Amino acid sequence: MIGVFDSGLGGLSVLATITHALPRADLVYLADSAHVPYGDKPDSFITGRVLTIGRHLASLGCDLLVVACNTATMTAIQTLRDHLPHIPVVGVEPGIKPAAQSSLARHIAVLVTEATARSQRLRQLVEHHADGTQVDIVPCPGWATHIETLQPETPAFRAEITGKIEALLAAGADRIVLGCTHYAFLTPVIVPLLAGHAELIDVSAAIARQVVRLGGERAGHAKLHLQATAYPERLRAALPALGLHELANRAGAALQVNL
Ligand code: DGL
Repeated sequence: MIGVFDSGLGGLSVLATITHALPRADLVYLADSAHVPYGDKPDSFITGRVLTIGRHLASLGCDLLVVACNTATMTAIQTLRDHLPHIPVVGVEPGIKPAAQSSLARHIAVLVTEATARSQRLRQLVEHHADGTQVDIVPCPGWATHIETLQPETPAFRAEITGKIEALLAAGADRIVLGCTHYAFLTPVIVPLLAGHAELIDVSAAIARQVVRLGGERAGHAKLHLQATAYPERLRAALPALGLHELANRAGAALQVNL
């Protein structure tokens, strides 16, 4: 079984691509809804949550883990690997490399949480992959929490997104990187703002390919188990609400787990 987790609903965007790539795989998705968002929490807190959840998923029999959260990956993936050396762990990192390689303006912007913005791992990613391209790191406080409400498209939030994206385009960025899995659900709002000026970079399909590489083709029963540390019914309801109908068809009721 493959274990996929996030602070909340954002990792469902990654889960959808994994399910598409591995239609027979058995999966468990855990949302740490009691502690979302991670982005405004201290690193020590995020690391503690990642270890607790990783151990829990290992105890359920998961033989491959996907940290479907940029913030958790940037802050704690190495610690998780150190503590569970027998389990392969796939993380999600902002697509700085594909963005920098494809940018014609040699100017990209990366939308991230505050915790990701300050992480050393992000600095290293930029050092290794920017290759002279200007990289604007853009913290977006509160955005993940808006997605969690399942009604993110309020006029005020739309205006905030529009203001931020228009400023980045005016500054000359021609690649906008989604550096938080929650933001994938803002694609319908962001893409029309980019028309003709910039492209959106989302790595979720590449993550699914990496899961297949590490975990192999899975001949399971196409089961999807949902778990949440709070509001399990909201996790279940999120699947159709976010347009994830394939996942909704697979999943049973969500279970509350107290971790
Ligand atoms: N989905 C997360 C990420 O990819 C975290 C958002 C949050 O909890 O602040 O960064």
